[in-house]
Amino acid sequence: MTSTFAEHISGQDQFDLHPALDSRLLRDVIHPSRSLWTPRELRDLTSFVASELTTGLLSILEYSADRRWWARLGLTEGVELWLLSWLPGQGTEPHDHGGSAGSFTVLSGSLREDYRYPAGPIRSAVRTTGDALGFGSGRAHQVLNPFDGPAATVHAYSPPLVPTREYASLLDIPDSIPPLPAHRLPLSELRRLADQEGP
Ligand SMILES: [Fe+2]
Repeated sequence: MTSTFAEHISGQDQFDLHPALDSRLLRDVIHPSRSLWTPRELRDLTSFVASELTTGLLSILEYSADRRWWARLGLTEGVELWLLSWLPGQGTEPHDHGGSAGSFTVLSGSLREDYRYPAGPIRSAVRTTGDALGFGSGRAHQVLNPFDGPAATVHAYSPPLVPTREYASLLDIPDSIPPLPAHRLPLSELRRLADQEGP
């Protein structure tokens, strides 16, 4: 489950940061005024947070046998940032991110990622501690922990809170992705969605 944390609103309501991570450093790298992030920028963000804010992340990190656990680390009108944990056997269904760009960096442990671009082959890779990747729209994946030990990852998506789409199989991903929302949501609405839906 989502850990309970007091929402911290700063910078004239431009961003939320998890109190355990709030720092000048994170305020700088989350770029509250940036409305759209590229896959590379997202990868740099998750990689930076995993490597430079490790102590804060480990103070938050929990595992849940009932359901995959997550905590929201940050939110702006341009990006969402999450910490997720994966016990052995836990994973996602095949899904895409509805046209958002995304990234994850492995904080600890290892995961298997099966992924596919439209009309491409299904590929499989082991992502292990320190691995960081960014991806644009059109890519679908399934992430699973088939290993003996737990894992934790830092994720970011832009635009934030665009609904994911799940598939029975990665073979089902369509050639085209839905258009991104023409009207971007204000932070107050994004916060409500994030509380409801998680990553
Ligand atoms: Fe995903």
